Amino acid sequence: MNAVAPHRGERIYLDHGATSWPKPPAVIAAVSRALTDLGANPGRSAHAMALEASRAVEAARGRCARLLGVPEARQLLFLPGCTIACNLMLKGYLRPGDRVVVGSMEHNAVVRPLASLAAQGLEVVVVAADDTGLIDPGEVERQVRAAPTRAVICQHASNVTGTIQLIGEMAEITREQGARLLVDGAQAVGHLEVDLASLGVDAYAASGHKGLLGPQGVGVLAVAADLELDVLIEGGTGGEASAQPDMPRERPDRYEPGTLNTPGILGLGAAAERLAADGVQRRRRADDLLHRLHEGIDALGGFRVLGPPRPQHRLPLLSVVHDWLTADRIAFDLDRSHGIAVRAGLHCAPWAHRTMGTLEGGAVRFSLSADNSDNHIDRALEALRRIVSRAGHGET
Ligand code: ALA
Repeated sequence: MNAVAPHRGERIYLDHGATSWPKPPAVIAAVSRALTDLGANPGRSAHAMALEASRAVEAARGRCARLLGVPEARQLLFLPGCTIACNLMLKGYLRPGDRVVVGSMEHNAVVRPLASLAAQGLEVVVVAADDTGLIDPGEVERQVRAAPTRAVICQHASNVTGTIQLIGEMAEITREQGARLLVDGAQAVGHLEVDLASLGVDAYAASGHKGLLGPQGVGVLAVAADLELDVLIEGGTGGEASAQPDMPRERPDRYEPGTLNTPGILGLGAAAERLAADGVQRRRRADDLLHRLHEGIDALGGFRVLGPPRPQHRLPLLSVVHDWLTADRIAFDLDRSHGIAVRAGLHCAPWAHRTMGTLEGGAVRFSLSADNSDNHIDRALEALRRIVSRAGHGET
């Protein structure tokens, strides 16, 4: 392939599944404030600036808990991201000899910790999704009933197909069978209304920097009050029990050792406050953009859209495979020739791609947000048309 001159005009960002961009001004202001006025270490020293930083962190915790329907703010832990949250949720709960049931669409943030637990004696039973990426709760129930099962593990929504799993039904099944439901909500939060109290999940890991529009480097884990997790990381917590070698029993301190990521947490708190105000409109807007893109891709022809058919509800993302052009080539041309940022490949979710039959070449993923415009979608569609047409004529 010849070198392609990089695109020089306006750039279009359609990679919100990797991380949302741009961040809202309120988030940037909160991060900045954490580095200026509130620059002290929360929960450590007793001077005014440190106390104010502590109050700001707890206010952010309250905002995030309210947004996600967590009944008590202290059950919501701030962690360095959803991957760390998934590790704590899985490795803090599961033991060698336990049996778990897991869907086949999981991301590596779940698959890899499970693989290392399996190497230590965890029994992992995988339930295959259908060709839209949906896990059948009935099949989960059959598997849970087949043998004593400690947990069901399921994503809330797929980062590859956008499929939204039937988490409420799974929660009922796991509760009836005396198991726990552990959920990876990395892609769902911000794009779906999440009310953890009514969903009835036992632990829910979420990313702060995707649909929630917060900064990178912060995520949350909401843990039911009656679910005890082992501590994976120990260290200082600044509390009164600092003379003791053991970590404190109280949440959130038990799971938040070391200096907190105050800029990330305050940024996430500001993002949660904003989404509480305009999340519904944003979701509607992103859905409209998704329908425009889906219709346009169907009309182009030659593309297979992974996941639920139109107009079934899904996250505002579309992964597509072309009949004869590779995903890498399409993403490269979109970026270099048209200034359009998407993500191609396996999206750190080889299980999901294997389920979809796309493990070999992956797919091109367009992931949208309410900050995109109709024009962005139309330009992406026109770019796809041109890329296919040029390649069809043997042009590089
Ligand atoms: N897991 C993220 C994605 O889907 C990074 O792109």
